[in-house]
Amino acid sequence: MWHKRKTWARFPPGPPSKPFVGNMLQIDFRNPHIAMCKLSKEYGDVYSLQFLWTNLVVLNGFEVMKEALLNKSEDIADRPNFPIYEPLGFIGNTKGVVFARYGISWKEHRRFSLSTLRDFGMGKKSLEQRVTEEAGFLCSRLQSEQGRPFDPRFLINNAVSNVICSIAFGERFEYSDAKFQKLLHLFMEALTAESGLLAQIANEIPILMKIPWLANKILEPEYSIFPFLNDLISEHRKSFDPNHIRDFIDAYMLEMEKMKENGDSSFNETNLLLTTYDLFGAGTETTSTTLRWGFLFMMLYPEAQSKVHLEIDKVIGRERKPTMGDVLKMPYTNAVVHEIQRCGDIVPLGLPHMAYRDTEIKGHFIPKGTTVITNLSSVLKDEKVWKKPYQFYPEHFLDENGKFVKQEAFIAFSAGRRVCLGESLARMELFLFFTSLMQQFRFEIPDNEPRPREDGLYAFTLCPHPYKMCVVSRM
Ligand code: HEM
Repeated sequence: MWHKRKTWARFPPGPPSKPFVGNMLQIDFRNPHIAMCKLSKEYGDVYSLQFLWTNLVVLNGFEVMKEALLNKSEDIADRPNFPIYEPLGFIGNTKGVVFARYGISWKEHRRFSLSTLRDFGMGKKSLEQRVTEEAGFLCSRLQSEQGRPFDPRFLINNAVSNVICSIAFGERFEYSDAKFQKLLHLFMEALTAESGLLAQIANEIPILMKIPWLANKILEPEYSIFPFLNDLISEHRKSFDPNHIRDFIDAYMLEMEKMKENGDSSFNETNLLLTTYDLFGAGTETTSTTLRWGFLFMMLYPEAQSKVHLEIDKVIGRERKPTMGDVLKMPYTNAVVHEIQRCGDIVPLGLPHMAYRDTEIKGHFIPKGTTVITNLSSVLKDEKVWKKPYQFYPEHFLDENGKFVKQEAFIAFSAGRRVCLGESLARMELFLFFTSLMQQFRFEIPDNEPRPREDGLYAFTLCPHPYKMCVVSRM
């Protein structure tokens, strides 16, 4: 089975693979993005690996990614199957958005989710108002932490998750709510369990999921998360009124009603659960991790922090709340937010893609059905593109006159057909949370605490090592 890769001419080269395991043991699953970048130095920007009997092609660097994600977007728009999620209901055409195969169900759910998020003027508050309000709650909570070192992880996570909560089911949770704290912990544990070696092996040998302790070890967090989401959906069902749509879940139920006549509709109860799960799973940890990188960089680079403070004072002042209308007037802050995302590099390997049809990238043949890894990290740190790829340097996004400049190689949200569905929301959250907190506080490394580390901890997302910070009020 491990000979498969040698049967195609012009298939990308790769390191020699061992019988049965292929190259699996050559990748350090605690830091796969680093291992994959190293291999590109030896085998080129398009190379192949073999995990048990699955062929993978790894794409590296800006030029390759541009060709693949932009010019040949549909060719690699599919997703591989993830058998480990089948016990949760991810089967056939019912896979929500993130894990959905490229096809009609994915298209319908992506379009519905995007337009429902966009319309979030529906209900009484706009999306921007919801984020600003939550940033206000977070600031008040941080005021009470003044003067003592604390780890901001759970507060930030709770605040960001509250935005998704208010979109999905029209409610937010207090930062002291023990049940919700538990749920957020479970989401984090899920990422760790599912990005490890065990989960990769179980994906390749699905029969292993029939072993109860193993399935439990991988999916234990979900076995608690899903009943929580199910309860929320059931409560919605009881009070559902088609003439008064309150939130995402209501909007989805209305869509199910409309599609009732259509026997083939992909809008069903299971997909409602999985799509809601997607919004939480994809929309909380990502944005909150980025913000944690942000405050970490502000502590480590006080000069950049002072420049952001100056710009906030000049453009917004200390009284008015930041709005999205301020972004264009604040090139330095905008550059800092982009540089936080570039350096934080929080989804280093993107999500796995799969070739939807036979294709060719930089002259290499990639057959339909091959898993394609988009090494986003190799683009965000591409030495051919960035002046100081491994340093925090907001000037990457500024011209000589201090104007903001877009960079094509900024692909923190990926690009093409599968580009992050929550990009606009995430950009809004990052700017509003970041500027709201910066307006009110200065962030400092606490006395007697070590200088926080700048390298990340990998668990599908790349997050900062736990750190403590002090906030000092500027008001
Ligand atoms: C997919 C990054 C926030 C929902 C992705 C992908 C990346 C990404 C790299 C994979 C794209 C690909 O397959 O090529 C980020 C970052 C975020 C963020 C860096 C924050 C800083 C959000 C938020 C939401 C969200 C707030 C939801 C409201 C999704 C969904 C997908 C996705 C549903 C799957 C799209 C598809 O398969 O069609 N994101 N994301 N993301 N993201 Fe985000």
